[in-house]
Amino acid sequence: MKFPHLSSAAVAMALLFVAACERKPPLAPEIKQAMEARHEGFETIGDSMKKIGDTLKGGGQLDPELAAAAKKINELAPQTKTWFPAGSGPETGRKTGAKAEIWAQPEVFAEKRDAFIAAAARLAQLADANDAAGFATQAGELGQACKGCHDQFREKKH
Ligand code: HEC
Repeated sequence: MKFPHLSSAAVAMALLFVAACERKPPLAPEIKQAMEARHEGFETIGDSMKKIGDTLKGGGQLDPELAAAAKKINELAPQTKTWFPAGSGPETGRKTGAKAEIWAQPEVFAEKRDAFIAAAARLAQLADANDAAGFATQAGELGQACKGCHDQFREKKH
């Protein structure tokens, strides 16, 4: 099919315009890296937490698989300290659930983060001690630590 009324130059201009609109400003490599690390990291933390929650809710209890999941969360938890460098929020124009409040209220955010790190460490300790009852209780506490931060600092939908 032909479009005699459109010169190829006009078509090229239109395509360039579309490309320019879709192109986002480039991210500094360290910002890009932190955003990727936090996406991957939270996905892994989420999967591990789901494993623990599903098993406990289904009447199961602490077993080597749950212990491994708890250790995975504990291994990643301290890394959250490096996942939110300044400039990695909504201003990037990228898809992110990280609210600007994280950087506007850094002390509150750090408090939630440190509570989470401590709760994850405690869960891993209970797994090591093979304390099934303590583990189940602490898994609930850890879930509250996730929620405590998400409620305030994560977009509900993104
Ligand atoms: C200190 C705050 C904080 C804590 C604690 C926290 N999160 Fe998050 N989480 C966030 C923020 C902020 C995002 C959005 C990150 C983004 O989109 O860039 C997020 C995103 C996620 C995601 C989506 C990942 C993605 O990119 O698709 C999952 C899953 C998740 N968190 C699970 C958890 C679980 C499970 C816990 C607890 C074991 C937890 N989080 C603890 C702040 C937190």
